[in-house]
Amino acid sequence: MECFKTELDADGILLCTFDVPGKTMNTFTKQALADLLAIAERAKTDAEVKGMVITSGKTTGFCAGADLEEMLGGAWEAKSDPSDPEGALKAGFAAAFEMNRVYRQLETCGKPVAVALNGLALGGGLELALACHYRVLNDGPKTQVGLPEIKIGLFPGGGGSQRLTRLIGAQAALMAMSEGKSFKPKDALSAGIVHEVVPVGQEVEAAKTWIRTKGDPVALWDKKDYKIPGGGPYHPAGAQIFIMANALLRKQSYGNYPAVVNLMRAVYEGLQLPFDSAIKVESRYFVNTLQTPQAKAMIRTFFFSMQQLGKGSGRPAGVEKTDPKQVAVLGAGMMGAGIAYVSAQAGIRVILIDRDDAAASKGKSHCESLVKKAVSRGKMTQEKAQALLDLIVPTSDYTQIAGSDLVVEAVFENTELKEKVTKDAEAQLYTGDKAETAIFGTNTSTIPISLLAKASVDASKFIGIHFFSPVDKMMLVEIIRGKETSDETLAKAIDYVLKIRKTPIVVNDARFFYANRCFIPFTAEGLHLWAEGYAPALIDNVGRATGMPRGPLEMMDDVALDLLVKITSETAKAMGDAYVPIPGEKEVAQMVADGRLGRKNGKGFYDYPEAGGNKSLWPGLSDKFAPTITDSTPELAEDIRKRLLYIQAVTAARCFEEGVISDPREADVGSILGWGFAPWSGGIVSLIDAIGTAKFVEELDELTAKYGDRFAPPQLLRDMAAKGETFYGRFGKTDAAKAA
Ligand code: NAI
Repeated sequence: MECFKTELDADGILLCTFDVPGKTMNTFTKQALADLLAIAERAKTDAEVKGMVITSGKTTGFCAGADLEEMLGGAWEAKSDPSDPEGALKAGFAAAFEMNRVYRQLETCGKPVAVALNGLALGGGLELALACHYRVLNDGPKTQVGLPEIKIGLFPGGGGSQRLTRLIGAQAALMAMSEGKSFKPKDALSAGIVHEVVPVGQEVEAAKTWIRTKGDPVALWDKKDYKIPGGGPYHPAGAQIFIMANALLRKQSYGNYPAVVNLMRAVYEGLQLPFDSAIKVESRYFVNTLQTPQAKAMIRTFFFSMQQLGKGSGRPAGVEKTDPKQVAVLGAGMMGAGIAYVSAQAGIRVILIDRDDAAASKGKSHCESLVKKAVSRGKMTQEKAQALLDLIVPTSDYTQIAGSDLVVEAVFENTELKEKVTKDAEAQLYTGDKAETAIFGTNTSTIPISLLAKASVDASKFIGIHFFSPVDKMMLVEIIRGKETSDETLAKAIDYVLKIRKTPIVVNDARFFYANRCFIPFTAEGLHLWAEGYAPALIDNVGRATGMPRGPLEMMDDVALDLLVKITSETAKAMGDAYVPIPGEKEVAQMVADGRLGRKNGKGFYDYPEAGGNKSLWPGLSDKFAPTITDSTPELAEDIRKRLLYIQAVTAARCFEEGVISDPREADVGSILGWGFAPWSGGIVSLIDAIGTAKFVEELDELTAKYGDRFAPPQLLRDMAAKGETFYGRFGKTDAAKAA
C-alpha cells in the first residue's frame, strides 16, 4: 500500500491516512484507488475491523480530486469495461468506472465508514467523502468542499452527480454542480453536505466518536424507505425543477457546455434508477463529455496550461531564479495602487510614488479599502492586513527608489511624461546595491515598449509589465519584450509576476500587444452591428450568448467610452491613411463629448441607476442609429455570433503570423484570463482548432465577402489550412510544457 497508511486502534477502528508520496496535495491516482479497494476488502473480511476513518496526511488538505494527468495521460488505457455498450475503452471511462466501483465497494463494505476532512476536498475528494457514511469537516480558514468539475468542461463522474442529488435534493445539487460551487465549512454544514464541523485537529476524534456511538454502515440511498429531498423527477415537484433548470441552462450557456447538458441528463435519468444502475448512467455520460472538443480544450487550458504558465514555463532557461523584495511603483492612480496592493500581498515592500505626497497617500487609501473588504469577507486576517499595509510606503520622494529590485511605472498614458519619470526613476534605481540587478517595467497599455525604452539608460533592462484592471482581481499579466530586452530581464519580470501569484504570458512589442489587440475588435464589431441597424439589446444578448462575459456595447461601457475614443483617435493618428474608420465611432465620440463616459459615470450605452439595480438602454441611442433589425432568428443570431467571435479569433491568428505571440497555451490562457474570451472554447486558438483551420478559413472568406476585409484570413491560416495543421500542432510547445 503506497498511498494510504492504516492503523487499527484498540476499539477496532481502522484509521486510513491518505498520503500520496512525493506530492504536496493528494489526488486520486490509479495506485490510490487500488489501495482504497484493498482497504474496502479488508473492512469486509477482517472481523477485527469494526469501522473505518479516512483522513489525509497532508497539511494542504484532504484531496483535490482525480489525478487528471494520469487519467488523461494514458495510465488507464489498458483497462477495459466489457459492459460498456459502446465498447469505449477510453482512459477516462476506465478511470471513472474504477473510481465508481471502488467508492461503491467502500460504501457497501458492511462496516461504518467516516471521513475526517482536514481541509480542502474537491472533485473526486468530495466524491469519496460522499461515499462515506459520515462526514466531519474542520473549520480551517482554507477549508472548502465542492464539485468544480464543470469548470474544466466535465461533471462529477465518481458518483458525485448521483450521491449529492440524493443527499441534498436535485435542485440544490444541480445548482452546486452546474456552477462548480465550493462551500465553506459552515455553508457545507447548512447545505447538508457534511454532518459535523469541528475545530482544526479534532476531525479524526469526532469521526471515531461517531463510529463508536452510532456507526451506521448503510448509506442513506441504500435504505429501503429513503426519499430524495424535494422528490425525484417522477415526483411532480421534482419534474418542475428539471423544467426550470433546463430553461435556466439554456439561458446561461446556450448549449455551449455539453458538460452541463450531460450533467442534467445523468441526474434526471439516474434519479429514476436504483443506485448501482444510476452510477453506470453517470459513467456513460461522463465519458461522452470527456470526448467533446469543449472538455478536451477546457481541460488543456484550465488545467494543464494554466498550471504550466503558473510555474513560469515561458521563463528563459539558464537564468538564476530571483526573488524581488522591493518594488517602486510610479503613479499611485487606479493601476499603480492596485499593483502596490498585489505586490504587498505577496510580501514585497512597495515604494508608492506620485507627484505629491497627497496623491501617493490616496493610492495607499485605495489599498486600505481593498484590505478592509478582504477582512470583512473573512479572506484576510487583521494581522495580515496590517502587515500588508505596513509594506506600502507612499511618497513623492524619488530617492526612496534606490535599493528596489524593480520599478513598475504606471503614470498617465503620455509618452513625454513616461520618458521623464523613467529618467528620474532610473537615476535612483541604478545606484546603490541593486544597481546591477534591478530592472524597469512599464505598465503602458498602448505605447510601444521599444519607443519608451529609448528614454532608458539601459534598454536591455527595460520591459513591459502590463496588468489588467482591476489589478487585484485580474489574474493575467502580459509581459512585453522590447527589441533590446534581455533574457535576464524577461526572467526577472516573470519571477516578479509569479511571486505576486499572477499568470504571465510573454508577448512581443506591437500596437496594443496581444490581449487588447484581440479584444478591441470585439467592441468594434458591436459598433458595426449597431450602425447597421441591429437593436442594441439584440447585439448584447447574442454577445453574451457567445460565452463572452458581456455583450460588446455593455463591455464598452465597462471599459469607459472616453478611453475607447482616445484609443481610436490615437490608432487613426498612428496608422494615417491606412486607417479604416469604424461606423459608429463618431457617434460614440459625440456621446463622450455629451458627458456619457460609460459605467464609471452611470451614463453610456446604458443608464445605470445611482441607487444600483438594473441598467436600462439609453433612449437617445435610437436617435443615432434607428434600429431596423430588432427580432432575432436562429440564422441571424448565428451570423452575429460568428462575427463577434471570429473577429477576435482572426486577430489572434494575425498575432501568430506577426510573431506577437508564439505559444498557443499563452494565447488561450491570455484570452480567457485577460478579457474573458468564451471559456467553453478553451480559449481563442482552441476555438479555431476545434472548428478546423480549413473550415475557419472558408467561413472567414464568406464573412469577408459580406462584411469586409477586417475578416480576411492571414496567409498563415491559409498555409495551415492547406496542410491541415492546427495551432497546437504547428506551434504547440509540448516538450517545453512537459519539462516545465
Ligand atoms: P490614473 O490616471 O488613475 O493614474 C495615473 C497616476 O499617475 C495619477 O495618480 C497621477 O497623479 C500619477 N502621475 C502623474 N505624473 C506623475 C509623476 N510625474 N510622478 C508620479 N506619478 C505621476 O491612470 P491609470 O488608469 O492607473 O493608468 C496608469 C497607466 O496604466 C497608464 O499607462 C495606462 O495606460 C496603464 N493601464 C491602464 C489600464 C486601465 O484599465 N486603466 C489597464 C492597463 C494599463
